[in-house]
Amino acid sequence: MQSINVAFIGAGNFINAYHLMTARHCPWMNIRAIADLNEDVLVNRAAAMTVGYTTTDYRRVLADPDIPLVVIGTKQDTHARLIVESLNAGKWVYCEKPMAQNKEETRAVLAAEARSTGRLAIGFNRRFAPAYRKTKELFANLPRPWFLNYRLMTPGPEKRAPGSFYHDQPHILYEGCHILDYGCWLFGAAPTRVFMTGDRLNNNCCILEFADGSQMQFMCGQLGSYCLPKEYMELFAEYHAVTVNDFVDLRVRGFPGEYDQVYGPYMAEHEAEVMKYGFDFYDLYRARELVNKSRNNPWGMPLEYVRRPTPLPFDVNDYSHQNPDAWAFVPDKGWEEAFKHFVRCCLEGISPENADGRAGALTTQTALDLLKSLELGRPVSR
Ligand SMILES: NC(=O)c1ccc[n+]([C@@H]2O[C@H](COP(=O)([O-])OP(=O)(O)OC[C@H]3O[C@@H](n4cnc5c(N)ncnc54)[C@H](O)[C@@H]3O)[C@@H](O)[C@H]2O)c1
Repeated sequence: MQSINVAFIGAGNFINAYHLMTARHCPWMNIRAIADLNEDVLVNRAAAMTVGYTTTDYRRVLADPDIPLVVIGTKQDTHARLIVESLNAGKWVYCEKPMAQNKEETRAVLAAEARSTGRLAIGFNRRFAPAYRKTKELFANLPRPWFLNYRLMTPGPEKRAPGSFYHDQPHILYEGCHILDYGCWLFGAAPTRVFMTGDRLNNNCCILEFADGSQMQFMCGQLGSYCLPKEYMELFAEYHAVTVNDFVDLRVRGFPGEYDQVYGPYMAEHEAEVMKYGFDFYDLYRARELVNKSRNNPWGMPLEYVRRPTPLPFDVNDYSHQNPDAWAFVPDKGWEEAFKHFVRCCLEGISPENADGRAGALTTQTALDLLKSLELGRPVSR
């Protein structure tokens, strides 16, 4: 197989733990360049992996004819501008979410995408999570309406703290966008009417209605405990139901010949134990890791081991961190496959299945409409 040069613009925490990790372990990707404004980041990345060159000026990357594909991993306030410049330079662009923060940015990105020879993907990785792909496959031919219930709930004290980039940013856009994209992808449609309650920044209940009568109920908040897994979804059609607990535990009802499944964590960390003991191992080990790592958590949040009321056939204390590259014990939300798929398509010159500019625009517009409905105190039709 041929190989391909990729470059990164913005290589902070997330990019380092995910897409750079994928690139450095992938035999057909070369990390040709990393651009970041922070020189310490550049020194650190160059020490940890093989990199063609580093630079504080991303324009050097855009002018480099040996780079067909760039990854944009800056924060969202620069996404649209960097996407436009990268597409204008003819690059294939994988940009982290959200694509845009408002209508003006959205318009600029869509115009650049339309005139570029490059392709655009937005990092809505849940489309590539194995458990979610299986769910979509199971429901593919079922008559509508479908009802989706989605909970994304995790404390975010560090995001709300003064000085954090996110402290004045609506959660429904910067993180809820993942799930808004997932719902629209699953239903294959845009919502016709949306409604949101709660507050502007942190905790929301949303209802999205679709033309065929399908509905999505989405709880997007920062309450609860880190010790409870963050995401849970249930999807219903007549006589059929699927639930997925944190991308790991898939339960299937009403599909003859289809059974419950378990999916291994990111980077196969303790995959064998998860496959053997199921969600119990995932849940208990995950909480154990959190407690051990966060003994001095500055938020005063109580963290404790998870215990089941009856004995289990394993003791999580017998297990320790296996893969030094896996920064934490997290589920497979599709990060690796979403990115690899896009790069592979660039290499082979075929059309990617990632969220494109249109999907990015739909997600931003849906989040903005939800915020508008909150302000108005009533549903917003589209
Ligand atoms: N897909 C997911 O599950 C997921 C999860 C977390 C974060 N993210 C996204 O990843 C992105 C980065 O988040 P993070 O927490 O890693 O942020 P971060 O602040 O750790 O990293 C951003 C980096 O971009 C650099 N940067 C800023 N402007 C630049 C410029 N003009 N040129 C070059 N470098 C520049 C900064 O110096 C910094 O190193 C965000 O868009 C976030 O929404 C995605």
